[in-house]
Amino acid sequence: MALINDKYGRTFRTLRVSLLQHCNLGCVYCVAGDEALKAANSSHEGKALTVEELLAVIRRLHGQLQFTRVRLTGGEPLLYSGLPALIKGIRDAGIPDIRLTTNGFLLERQAAPLKAAGLEAVNVSIDAIDEAVFFAMSRRHSAERVIRGIDAAIQAGLDVKVNAVIMKGLNDSQILPLLEFAFSRGVKLRFLEVMAMGHLHQDAGRFLVTQDEMLRIIGERYRFEPLTRVAAATARYWRTDEGQVFGIIANESEPFCQDCDRLRLDSQGRIYGCLSSNHPIALELEEGEEAWAGKLAAALEQKQPLRFTGSDLSMLSIGG
Ligand code: 5AD
Repeated sequence: MALINDKYGRTFRTLRVSLLQHCNLGCVYCVAGDEALKAANSSHEGKALTVEELLAVIRRLHGQLQFTRVRLTGGEPLLYSGLPALIKGIRDAGIPDIRLTTNGFLLERQAAPLKAAGLEAVNVSIDAIDEAVFFAMSRRHSAERVIRGIDAAIQAGLDVKVNAVIMKGLNDSQILPLLEFAFSRGVKLRFLEVMAMGHLHQDAGRFLVTQDEMLRIIGERYRFEPLTRVAAATARYWRTDEGQVFGIIANESEPFCQDCDRLRLDSQGRIYGCLSSNHPIALELEEGEEAWAGKLAAALEQKQPLRFTGSDLSMLSIGG
């Protein structure tokens, strides 16, 4: 099938797959207080697709779109059984660049087997180094456990990046400690502006620490220069005078919708063209090429022209 393009020249080149809708952490930006236990207890709606079912969908999508990359997310993707088999299957389908976004809790044991299965890279979320702040952000212990996961991933030869969502009054004290940690490990840290998703849909503004505010805080300790943005990238990067690189994903201050190339597939086999869209499109394997092409075109139309406008969806159901 010919590649589809929208009027901004955008198409789908990368696929993000949410493998399941539950998580072993209860992060404040993702779940509201009373939902946190539920998230941890994995009582979740709908049944996640099996490895074979997911592979059948991914193979067909790849046939139509020729993806350059697949990112596996959740919920928490390390809770998905059959993850190594899924990674092998995606490689065998002809997509060699496979990455994963995780909270790192189960990474210490899984890093080496996942690398062996063909995983290239992991993004590990850690929102604080201080244990009390880590607990306030994730409602679980501990930062040290995530750090062991990060170290195991580095050891296993995975390409490791670290993500930290910064929220005003909650973990903005952690910007410099997180940077120091990342620099000590030689991994790229990206700070994320909090997004208006899920229970924060109408309420993210009061927690927002903007890119400019983050840069000002980082500037108290380091001198740095901006690097050129790579097309379709979510993060902008800076390099310190000492040669260390950090990034910011400034969804609010500097949206990156204009060249977004992501298609999202959730754990029930539904696609989304945009995080702002809460209108999943269900794919059916019984349907033919033309029906799928129509659904892909509809998903592409969901992309916002210029900026993320917020959504009731939480990352718990659609991943990063
Ligand atoms: N705003 C910003 N980042 C979020 N994440 C999850 N929910 C939000 C939100 N509302 C982060 C996770 C992970 C990445 C995929 O997205 O912490 O690092």
